[in-house]
Amino acid sequence: MFTKKTVKDLNVKGKRVLVRVDYNVPLTSGGKIEDDYRITQSLPTLQYLLDKGAAIILCSHLGRPEGKVVPSMSLLPVAKRLHELLKLPVEFANDCVGPETLEKAQALKPGQILLLENVRFHPEEEANDKKFAKELAALADVFVQDAFGVVHHGAVSVSGLPKLLPSAAGLLLAKEVDTITKVMREPERPMVAVVGGAKIADKIDILKKFIEMADMVAIGGAMANTFLKATGVDVAKSLVDDGELQIAKDIMAQAQSEAKERDFVFFLPRDGVVAQKADKNTPTRIVDWGALAVADIEHYPKRVPASASKVAANEKILDIGPFSGAFIAGSLQLAGTVIWNGTMGMAEVAGTQGPVGPYAHGTELIMEGMLGDFGHKPFSVVGGGDTVAYVQSRGLTDSFNHVSTGGGASLELMAGRKLPGITALEDK
Ligand code: 3PG
Repeated sequence: MFTKKTVKDLNVKGKRVLVRVDYNVPLTSGGKIEDDYRITQSLPTLQYLLDKGAAIILCSHLGRPEGKVVPSMSLLPVAKRLHELLKLPVEFANDCVGPETLEKAQALKPGQILLLENVRFHPEEEANDKKFAKELAALADVFVQDAFGVVHHGAVSVSGLPKLLPSAAGLLLAKEVDTITKVMREPERPMVAVVGGAKIADKIDILKKFIEMADMVAIGGAMANTFLKATGVDVAKSLVDDGELQIAKDIMAQAQSEAKERDFVFFLPRDGVVAQKADKNTPTRIVDWGALAVADIEHYPKRVPASASKVAANEKILDIGPFSGAFIAGSLQLAGTVIWNGTMGMAEVAGTQGPVGPYAHGTELIMEGMLGDFGHKPFSVVGGGDTVAYVQSRGLTDSFNHVSTGGGASLELMAGRKLPGITALEDK
């Protein structure tokens, strides 16, 4: 249960409400919004506040401009999209603080909306500057935190503003925290965690947590290469983080000791899609290094040419192979809960024939397994920027039980960490 006040506990009639949203959305070089999921997910809170007679001031970051004004990271395209979605005028302030912005904020009437320019254009935001916090707080009467994607940070617009204004959580933040906390506390079992992406270092805590509490952990994406190399598989030119080999060994040792104590499976891909270059026109082949593990089956080795079980010196692994994809998808058929974070390969490379590219088949199989395409539909939770972007690009966001707007924040919440942006809010 979410224990903090939410917007529903506030009287906002006639008040100016500063809402911290996470409008950190991907933009094309022409400034077009590629994925508006985070914007659409903020609408219930905004609609609630409008219905209750509040004026809304929206504050967000976009990208990592590191305290400088970077025009390509302006939130202006977001103001336009918000206007289209809400069918209401959305005013834009070219700076998140300063006399002009203060004047605009003070002139707001109930039902009106003002979007502030990127709060990270000011170095004071991430430096937790007190004067900057006061300037932002002066714009409003009340603060609402609805940017789940940033609550693991300690910036002014995350943990600073609740110290200066009456505060509460928005509806999106409350929903994210409720859903993720519940699924980690009381998952319907068996619970399977599917973890991909590039770096193990970003996910050590969550991997450890999943090994402690899930019934199966399946690994894909580039991080699988590092694990495989640590077990002695020759991954040739594949993306590997050599600095993470020891972490990979430690995590596998933890998994092994867990598997000795209870029914637990730690699955590393046994086959992969390989190519010399990660583009849609380079020929691919499937390599089954796991074939070596079954080499004692009578006659089997004679039928497998050596090249089919070895990544060549000039090749790299770019996706999990069909055996591994099918094995994981098959396991999902027995699962009560699936938590998925990280694509299984370079799913973002577009295809020649359609939206599914040459290195997206593993990811597709996982999605099919989660969404009931093979008959059984487990409770499904998706988190992580790239994963969510892929799901969104396939138009499947509404098919999962929960698609988180948070990247690092959802991992930290799942790992059981206290998040400063939530701690700072008023208790119910
Ligand atoms: C995210 O995309 O995860 C959030 O918007 C936070 O962005 P950050 O990682 O740049 O702080």
